Amino acid sequence: MARENLDENIEIDKSYCEEDVKNFHFTNNIKVLFLGAGEEGQPEAEDLRMGIHAIINQTNDLKISRLVIVSMDGEGKNAASLRDIAETCVLSNYQFLTYKTDPRKKENSLKKISIYSTDKGAANLVKEGYLTGTVTTIARDLVNEPVITLTAVELANRAEKLGKEFGFEVEVFNKKKIESLKMGGLLAVNFGSPLPPTFTIMEWKPKGAKNKKPIVLVGKGVVYDTGGLSLKPTGNSMDFMKSDMAGAAAVIGTLCGAGALNLPYHIIGLVPATDNRPGQNAYTPGDVIRMYDGTTVEVLNTDAEGRMILADALAYAKKYDPEITIDLATLTGAAVIAVGTLGIAMMSNASEEQKNKLKTAGFAVYERLVELPLWKEYKDQLKSDIADLKNIGGRNAGSITAGKFLEHFTDYPWIHLDIAGPAFLHGAEGYRGKNGTGTGVRLLLNFIENY
Ligand code: BES
Ligand code: ZN
Ligand code: ZN
Repeated sequence: MARENLDENIEIDKSYCEEDVKNFHFTNNIKVLFLGAGEEGQPEAEDLRMGIHAIINQTNDLKISRLVIVSMDGEGKNAASLRDIAETCVLSNYQFLTYKTDPRKKENSLKKISIYSTDKGAANLVKEGYLTGTVTTIARDLVNEPVITLTAVELANRAEKLGKEFGFEVEVFNKKKIESLKMGGLLAVNFGSPLPPTFTIMEWKPKGAKNKKPIVLVGKGVVYDTGGLSLKPTGNSMDFMKSDMAGAAAVIGTLCGAGALNLPYHIIGLVPATDNRPGQNAYTPGDVIRMYDGTTVEVLNTDAEGRMILADALAYAKKYDPEITIDLATLTGAAVIAVGTLGIAMMSNASEEQKNKLKTAGFAVYERLVELPLWKEYKDQLKSDIADLKNIGGRNAGSITAGKFLEHFTDYPWIHLDIAGPAFLHGAEGYRGKNGTGTGVRLLLNFIENY
């Protein structure tokens, strides 16, 4: 479903309309009751989402075009549910049809969903859910877009466009500016590409923001990862690497959400972007690169490129004196091995309180975080003979040594989220769908809303 049409497709403010509900003919309608939801250890909200997803799926299978959901809970009781229902409707009915010659042939039959409730605040809740769902699909669209169209420059252009639409400021550094700033990591990864890198800065700063120091979000924007000269092996390890900018997509989607929900917090988003290719001038194993903060890095694998560009962005983030910085990156295959598609590997030097807030958000939206340690001994694996650091740490603890590498470039409370597993799905998993999932958007929005 194209975003432009969503407003027509999903009715978002049909709340409290008793007459309507009374006159509604329930014959020939399928009534679904969510009874016994909430298995042990499983939040009811997730059961509800999966239930809604099942209904949306069925509705499309049956070629039905119109769905009415009547929430029968008592006043105030279903407040959170209404938002979840609306959000899941948007997520479940999402399709990426940009490249279907005749999209109508493939389009879901479900065109309009109305949500009825006797709850007073229903209209707002449904609208909020509609918005968080919609900005998640913006991230999905970006992830699903191939690199032939979504170059680093185009990613920055999209951010600019979305900034205008959702009301946040966007500044884009071009290659010249990146060179003058000496962002050595981003430039090195870009050496093998015929196309220039970009560094995008987004800012949402509402009047009377509750936080004095900003929340900084950093997203890995590798618009395609071939591995560079350390080329990825044949098989299927490269074919979905258009998704290596899913961290960037999550940050952009979150900024959109902050604008859409008018969140009362000062937020900054940083997206370093380039493709990683083995072109003529590509950076090579053995090269020593001087990074933005002056650290020298011996490159021993050009496929460990995410940390090279993130290091510059994390060092750049110091100038904002952030209250907390959260980076999101499809950083390591080891994270996929460790937690699969169900979890996000988290590493952090922040306080227990800050970490717990994010973990709570993760459980609420069901983008669950698994914390890995950043014990100091792991840094020994990054010792280089000739430079300050090397960019790989060997076979053991691959996600952690990547995290240790990033930590070197921070001097503020920081949380690293390795979303390599859940960012892109090779088979549908409920309302998260197939391909780009928009992982991170709902997590960050929930975290910031409850900050
Ligand atoms: N983009 C990949 C990580 C990745 C793998 C994301 C699978 C999603 C699914 C990253 O740039 C990479 O290639 N990492 C290497 C690091 C290694 C060379 C130290 C990896 O994980 O193999
Ligand atoms: Zn790589
Ligand atoms: Zn990568």
